[in-house]
Amino acid sequence: MGAQSLAVACRALILFLTLTGATNPGFVVRITQAGLDYAHQQGIAVLEKELAQLKLPDFSGDFRIKVLGKVRYEFSRLDLRNFHLPYSRISLVPNVGLQVSISNAFADVDGNWRVKIHFIRDHGSFDVRVENIYVNINLKLGNDASGKPTIDTPYCSTRISNIRVRFSGRLGWLYNLFHNAIESKFRKILEGKVCDIVVKSVHSKLQPYVQTLPVTARIDAIAGVDYSLVAPPTATAQSLDVALKGEFFSLAHRSAVPFPPLALALPPDHDRMVYFGASSYFFNTAGFAYHAAGALVFEITDSMIPKTIDFHLNTTTFSAFVPQLEKMYPNTPMKLRLSASSAPFLNIGPGGLSLKPVVDIQAYAILPNSSLAPLFLLSLTGNVSAVINVKSGHIVGSLNVGRMKLSLKHSDVGTFQVRTLQSIMNIYASSILLPRLNERLDEGFPLPLPDRIQLSNTLVRFHQNFLLLGADVRYQPRV
Ligand SMILES: *[C@@H]1O[C@H](CO)[C@@H](O)[C@H](O)[C@H]1NC(C)=O
Ligand SMILES: *[C@@H]1O[C@H](CO)[C@@H](O)[C@H](O)[C@H]1NC(C)=O
Ligand SMILES: *[C@@H]1O[C@H](CO)[C@@H](O)[C@H](O)[C@H]1NC(C)=O
Repeated sequence: MGAQSLAVACRALILFLTLTGATNPGFVVRITQAGLDYAHQQGIAVLEKELAQLKLPDFSGDFRIKVLGKVRYEFSRLDLRNFHLPYSRISLVPNVGLQVSISNAFADVDGNWRVKIHFIRDHGSFDVRVENIYVNINLKLGNDASGKPTIDTPYCSTRISNIRVRFSGRLGWLYNLFHNAIESKFRKILEGKVCDIVVKSVHSKLQPYVQTLPVTARIDAIAGVDYSLVAPPTATAQSLDVALKGEFFSLAHRSAVPFPPLALALPPDHDRMVYFGASSYFFNTAGFAYHAAGALVFEITDSMIPKTIDFHLNTTTFSAFVPQLEKMYPNTPMKLRLSASSAPFLNIGPGGLSLKPVVDIQAYAILPNSSLAPLFLLSLTGNVSAVINVKSGHIVGSLNVGRMKLSLKHSDVGTFQVRTLQSIMNIYASSILLPRLNERLDEGFPLPLPDRIQLSNTLVRFHQNFLLLGADVRYQPRV
């Protein structure tokens, strides 16, 4: 291979690596049009309130009227009584972001007027009806250095096509002589103010709200999950997709994950407001983090054995399977130490979620001086399947264990028939280990949700390499 073709190959490889591995998210959040419509409903209600707080400045000017000459006017105490946004919608602009269009909005303003013509002075009140207000706002979504979502407003325009001012008072008729000029001044002031308020509300209300997305969430004493955005959210014609890292990590010591996330192709489903794609990478980093933190270790002692099982964990019981125990450690209590010999690796396919954990079981005799004498080391493998659900904004699960297979890895007490231990180990695993594991899995792991969001109408589907969760969303306002 010549130097040039090598350079080309290197560039192609770098390009390939940039396009694949490094940027694949472990978790994708998809917001459909139904979800955007719901968010829009909530947002417009807030914007309507913000606009009603709009403060209009006093203004004044001069007019020259035939016969009368110069008229000096002044408007003050402008009060926006209401601002209604009856028609608006939010739409996806592929590759750009979102667009909010407000049409036929209307508002009412009242206030005081004051005029001076030579030495004549008068004052009164007025009201303004502003109709056919059109507002267009583009929302550009991004991500900041900490991986939190950002929202910017690169474009906002307001157009008002109908404005009517009514004056009352003795000299009210005067204003009607130059209402066109006054109306255009009102229009200008309002057009400028509305976009000000919209842009300010996006920055002071919407952006802080989306930033409540917990990009790193502590899960328990051992692990956290990293939900930081790996790229700016992307808009397509059907949805807004947010690519998250989706990676568990050990709180004590975060180490690089030795396997990459695979590409995750969400199906075009759109009947729920939001979909979550949780890749097998996401789940496997959980196994990796808990294993690396030394958390996948579990001890079974006699006191943990349910009353309904009359297999006491001692050498008297076990000598039925390992006869030499009776002589070596007569009537001695025992202890089993279960540990995952490697991080459990889970597979997700259309048929569901399954794993084949390899569990080491070390048996000990507990000597009278409470030191432990190792007896034998077994290896337990089995097919485990999982049922997944969503509960209170968490992914929860429960495991079902199929038939398990036992083999002997090492013995300190000589040979014995391992097969005979199969059923007792099955009982211990399914009646002691599994319920405790499932209790933990039932607490679940938090989904990436901003504050005060509740999920309902959830669905769970399995696809190649990822789990798809769908849900409708409800925002719970602060009480
Ligand atoms: C060991 O278990 C047997 C029955 O399985 C029981 O009779 C015996 O008392 C136990 N011994 C100890 C030390 O717990
Ligand atoms: C406990 O007892 C065993 C045998 O009886 C002995 O080998 C071991 O050294 C003792 N351990 C301690 C810590 O005393
Ligand atoms: C686990 O499942 C595989 C096929 O998926 C099968 O070959 C294997 O025997 C099963 N193991 C046990 C212990 O049932």
